Order: sequence, then C-alpha cells, then structure tokens
Amino acid sequence: MRKIYLAFTFFACIVLFLSNSSDTRSGTNLFLLGGESDPILPEVPYDYAGISIPEHLRQPSYTDGGVKDTTIFDDLSNDAATLGRVLFYDELLSANENLSCATCHQQHLSFADETPFSAGASEDTKRNSLHLNDLGWTNNTAFFWDLSHGNLKEMIALPLENPNEIGVTDLNALLVKLEATNYYPGLFENAYGTSDISLIKIQDAISQFIRSMVTFDSRLDRFRRGEGEHYLMITELEGLGLFQAKCEVCHLDGNQSVLKALEYPEAIEANPEFFANELEDEEDIGAGAWSPDLIGIFKVPTLRNIEKTAPYMHDGRFETLREAISHYSDGVEDPKWGMISKSGFQFTETEKSKLISFLLTMTDESFLTEVRWSDPFTQTVSNVELDEVLLSAEVFPNPSNGLTYINFENINQRQVMAYLMSMDGKIVRKLSTHKNGFVTDVSQLPAGMYMVRIQNGDSFLDKKLVVSP
Ligand code: HEC
Ligand code: HEC
Repeated sequence: MRKIYLAFTFFACIVLFLSNSSDTRSGTNLFLLGGESDPILPEVPYDYAGISIPEHLRQPSYTDGGVKDTTIFDDLSNDAATLGRVLFYDELLSANENLSCATCHQQHLSFADETPFSAGASEDTKRNSLHLNDLGWTNNTAFFWDLSHGNLKEMIALPLENPNEIGVTDLNALLVKLEATNYYPGLFENAYGTSDISLIKIQDAISQFIRSMVTFDSRLDRFRRGEGEHYLMITELEGLGLFQAKCEVCHLDGNQSVLKALEYPEAIEANPEFFANELEDEEDIGAGAWSPDLIGIFKVPTLRNIEKTAPYMHDGRFETLREAISHYSDGVEDPKWGMISKSGFQFTETEKSKLISFLLTMTDESFLTEVRWSDPFTQTVSNVELDEVLLSAEVFPNPSNGLTYINFENINQRQVMAYLMSMDGKIVRKLSTHKNGFVTDVSQLPAGMYMVRIQNGDSFLDKKLVVSP
C-alpha cells in the first residue's frame, strides 16, 4: 500500500529560483503532494544518457587487444530511462500490487537482496537475487545465473512473468491497468512519442534504466583515474596483485578477453572453464539445464560493489567475502573444470584479508543513494505535517564565509540525514546527525543550484540551495 508522497519538485524550485525572490522565505519548502499512487519526478528528467565509459576502463588487457565499445550507451534516452525507473519501482505491475522489481533488487544493496532466496509472487526464488550494477557495459553478454539469456531487453519479460518473481499472469490486463493511471500514458509518450503501452516498450524502458546503473566512482576508479589524493593502501595493492594473479582470469569486470570476441552463447560453449568455480551443487546444474556439456557452469557476476551484495553465489551459500574466498582457497573438493585445482589457492588468512580489502575498493557509495536510481514513489511513514523535525527545518546559506547552516528541532535526537545534491541528481555530500542541525562548507563546490534533502526516517524534505561563485 502506498502512502502519501511528498516532494519539493525541481520545477517548483526552478520557478522559485527564477522569480529571484528577495523574500526571506526563499529557503522555505513548497510541498507538492502527488496523487495516491503517482510517482514524483523532476520536471526536467535526470541525466541517464550522458554515460561514457571512463578512459581507464577502456584499456585493453589480455590477448585480443580489442578496444572497449564506447558507443554502447549511445542509445540511452533520459525519458525512456525515467519511464524504466517508474516501472522498476511500481508495485502496480504485480498481480497483488505488493511487489516490484525493487523488492528483490534494492538500491542500497547495489540492487541485490539480502536473503539467499527472495519471496516472489507465489513462491520463493530458486536462486539468489543478482545485483544489477554495471550490466550495461560488463557482464552484459549473458544473463541469469545459468547464463540462459543473451539479451537484456528480451530477458526482462521473464522476471515480469515468472511466478517466483513479479508473476504477471495476464499481460493484457496489466497494459489496461497501466493505461488507466494518471502517469503512464504521459511517460510513454515522452519516451516513445505515443502513449500506446506495449510489452516491448516496457522491456526497452526497464532495460535502459538498468543499463544506466554504472559504478564508475569507486575508490579503485579514482585511483586508476590518477586523481592525486586517491591512493590505495599497501594491503589493498597487495590484494590487487593477488586478485590479478588468481581471480582476474575469470572475473574480468569490463576488461577485454578472448571471450568478448565471441558471440553468445558460443563464448561460453568454447571456454566453459572460465565460468566454473567448482561449487558443489547436486540440485542446481546451472547452464547444464540448457546444454548437457555445461553442467556446473554459472554466470561470473561483476565484483563491483560486491561488498554490498551478500549473501554470495547462486544459492547465497556464503554470508561473507571471507567465506567466499575460503572456498577458492581450500574448499574445492572435486574440481571438474581444471581452472582451480583440488588443493585450491591455499591463501593464508593475511592474504584473504588483503584480497578482501582490495574487493572493498570497488564499492561506489554514491551509487547506493543516487536519486536518479532511487524509488520515485518514496513513501513517507509519517505525514510530514506531523514530522516535527522536517516541519522545523530551514536552510541558511551564508555566502560571505561559504558555510551553510541546516537547522531543525530534533528533540528526540533521532538520526537525521542531509544529502546535498546537484541538479542532475548526483549526491555531492552526505551528512548525518542526532543533533539539531548541520553546518557544511560549500565554498569548494562549483557555483550553481543544489538541492538539500533532509531525511528523517522514511520522510524527507527537499530544499534548494544556491551556491554563489
Ligand atoms: C522475487 C524476487 C525478484 C523480483 C521481484 C525480480 N527479480 Fe530479478 N532476479 C531475481 C533473482 C533470484 C535473479 C537470479 C535468477 C536466476 O539467475 O535464476 C534475478 C535476476 C535478474 C536479472 C539478471 C541479472 C544478471 O546479471 O544476469 C535481471 C536483469 C533482473 N533480475 C531484473 C529484474 C527486473 C527488471 C524485475 C522486475 C520486472 C525483476 N528482476 C524482479 C529476483 C527477483
Ligand atoms: C575459474 C573461474 C573463477 C575464478 C578463478 C574465480 N572465480 Fe569467483 N566466481 C566464478 C563463478 C563462475 C562465480 C559464480 C559461481 C556460482 O555462484 O555458482 C563466481 C563468484 C564469485 C563471487 C560471488 C559473486 C556474487 O555476486 O555472489 C565472489 C565474491 C568471487 N567469485 C570472488 C572471487 C575471488 C576473490 C577469486 C580469486 C581468489 C575468484 N572469485 C576466482 C568464477 C571464478
């Protein structure tokens, strides 16, 4: 059940900005209540289309010397991805209106789920929910744990119709239901030029939204981009060395390989051993279900944001990265594919720790909170009129010293968060307190308009902030 949604729209804030009011209330909140179940979207869509694969991830490695396809994101459109965002989070899609893609693919977990198996429309999933970060540019040649589909757009129909996922049984009824909302006809029109709703368009929009989810701002990326102040610690670098020696042969994460030169599914059939980490599983034979030669073959998921996606492996058997690494170290009992021998890699505990610290450098924190990938149906547990903290909140910029004060009354000392966001929805700063406010220095930020989102529990309030040159 959706509750009341509240936001200060970007439109309202632009109007406020353009009116250039000298009114001292210019920092005051405007509330726009959406309809009972309408998403809250910015007037100008967020930027999804402007993705380019950073230089440091285009470097060829391994044998083929190929260069990463830099046109891979060229067909993304902001309007289609916006529609995809709404569909992804909309519980209206499920028969009982209680499930969305995001039920099992949660942003703060890099779009994975925290349990080994998730509760679907009528039964639990058979495998662990896969994280959805970076599927647009890496690990994008085969989908699902059993690598049974080679095309993201086409495979989106499966979670929609699968009874242990969204479980749509009557597609026509769903299309009629979407047509009857206030918001879908307009969103489809923006995205595709006509308000007609079809399964193909739904698949296209959701796949565009998913492809836009990239983690290019981890500590590892900053280090590789050569940003001076971003170092990796010695232990992390040693972990990287171990990773390159033992893991990278299968965990390519965007790097070029011989496999990339081949099409799906030939790439897998020609070199299945790269998809075999020798986990024992009597029941789940992975790709063996569609090809008898591929028993025990599974997808190699991206390790970007792996810190956030526990439990691990196709059945979520490992709760921690240490357990996963211990499998490679000394858990391989009866190897069948030859890449990992029976004695395993025999890591010491220190080496395992180094590997873990390296894996953690691939976490992109901003990805987990970026507004453009967040739930547009954001729910408020409390009506904002009853939320003392948010009702009292004020934002005071002081252009003379570059400090901005965010004040509120927090009598019960609840944890209150504040996110400073640029107008394209990127979070540039995150603050947390149990006190009555924050002071933050914005003098180093590029001049322009920002939003401050003040969040108390599930309720939030957006206010504008102008940073002067
Ligand atoms: C009830 C939980 C659940 C729901 C709801 C759900 N998924 Fe999934 N999703 C999973 C599980 C579990 C897997 C792994 C399934 C497998 O590989 O057999 C998965 C896999 C995927 C993958 C493949 C990722 C990869 O790396 O190969 C994509 C893409 C995906 N889901 C998208 C969606 C979309 C889009 C929706 C909504 C239309 C959705 N899911 C709804 C649980 C769910
Ligand atoms: C021979 C290929 C291969 C090698 C070498 C390999 N992996 Fe894997 N890795 C896989 C496959 C395949 C999976 C998925 C297996 C499954 O779930 O059935 C996987 C899964 C994982 C996962 C869980 C991913 C998730 O989303 O649940 C982690 C973590 C991991 N590997 C880390 C490592 C580390 C660290 C190393 C080096 C010590 C390594 N791997 C070496 C093939 C390999």
